[in-house]
Amino acid sequence: MEIKRESWGSKTGFILAAAGSAIGLGNIWKFPYIAGENGGASFIIVYLICIGIIGLPVLTAEILIGRTTQRNPVGAFYKLSQSKFWAGLGGMGVIAGFLILSFYAVIAGWAIGYIVEAFKGSFFNFTEATSSADHFNGLVGDIYWMLGYFSLFMFLTMIIVFAGVQKGIERGSKILMPILLILLIILMIRGVTLEGADSGLEFLWNPDWSKINAGAILIALGHAFFTLSLGMGAMLTYGSYMSKKDSVPNSAFQIVFLDTLIALIAGIAIFTSVFAVGLDPAAGPGLIFHTLPSVFIKMPGGYIFSILFFILLTIAALTSAISLLEVVVSFFVDELKWKRHTAAIVLTLIISLLGVPSALSYNLLADFTIFGLNFFDLVDFIASNILLPLGGLLIAVFVAWVWGFKRVLPNLKEGAERLFEEYPVVITIWKIFLKYFSPVLIFLVFLHSVGLLDKIINLFTGL
Ligand code: TRP
Repeated sequence: MEIKRESWGSKTGFILAAAGSAIGLGNIWKFPYIAGENGGASFIIVYLICIGIIGLPVLTAEILIGRTTQRNPVGAFYKLSQSKFWAGLGGMGVIAGFLILSFYAVIAGWAIGYIVEAFKGSFFNFTEATSSADHFNGLVGDIYWMLGYFSLFMFLTMIIVFAGVQKGIERGSKILMPILLILLIILMIRGVTLEGADSGLEFLWNPDWSKINAGAILIALGHAFFTLSLGMGAMLTYGSYMSKKDSVPNSAFQIVFLDTLIALIAGIAIFTSVFAVGLDPAAGPGLIFHTLPSVFIKMPGGYIFSILFFILLTIAALTSAISLLEVVVSFFVDELKWKRHTAAIVLTLIISLLGVPSALSYNLLADFTIFGLNFFDLVDFIASNILLPLGGLLIAVFVAWVWGFKRVLPNLKEGAERLFEEYPVVITIWKIFLKYFSPVLIFLVFLHSVGLLDKIINLFTGL
């Protein structure tokens, strides 16, 4: 007996779930610190351009593959190409899902742990940024703290995916996303009303072009990919539950808009606070865990705002993590005919085991390195810097060159008739970007990630 495939209950449900996937640690933890390290406003402008010319076209392509085939990544590529090679691209996405979730949940676990620290008022026990760092190092050095919150986060992710597409993911997103937006707006208002917030705003709006070089552009491009959950079939899987009555390009635009809006609001909230108390905006990955606690203790109402902030961070991570687990679950449900409930439980356990060495990379296994990277950084590197850009590149090539626009366009048109009639130029631009710009630019990011680009540039410049 063929069991009916699940689907979203409404278009809004799909947009919120997909925006939930896109909006995550990437927006609130990573975007501010890489913007801070790369000069603020000028980096943000480059990032916005990357989102427009690469992110939006590839997102549209991924959602379309899913909606057309109504399959998980492996089944989807196989259905369209009848080729094992392209099915393998989907398989790479499923593996990337395993890997990314295993280390993503470690940082998400810190966020939950920090809610508890905020409640306890731990941040008020120190006054200098250094002791804030000591506090952080003490926590992540504790095996039980790390594994405990990591497991709790994996458990929360599992419950939502276990409950299914409409009852779990869609309902969860409809509740969590509005809370996230409200919390973030409250934090932004707090930030801009602090004394000395102006210098933070200036940092965000006044470009410093001297900081922009090839490296910064590639970081912006790579991040455009990560923040939109592209390159491993997450958006493809969410697209597979979408109705043919809804417009793919319009949905993609709305998702990009929400993701970018949240990244900018998070940037404003964080930089106004950091500048108001005179801390370093280029503090790196530790920015929100090391630096923000010492910002909160110096701001009026800091106790409440610190709790709100880490709740916000946890919610954002949770709605992203469920999209990662869903990719893996949908593969086992569609292709191997597992029951959703079994798949959710068993796969969560396997991913949790895989995450243990990542969680221990900050304590027990700190000295264990492969190619000079600890386990956490190694998994992050393989997934984010190799599998995702490679996946994104092949997705663009697949849609533009293998599937071919002759077959693509009738599918894209379903639900988007108005766009095709009134603004056919949008479709033409999409085709050009996807066919030429995306593959070439993503290829450069990929070379840069594996360290080859710099060598090639040196070769030509004779250095
Ligand atoms: N986009 C999420 C963030 O910004 C992370 C994420 C969720 C992701 N699913 C993904 C990244 C799939 C790449 C691929 O935090």
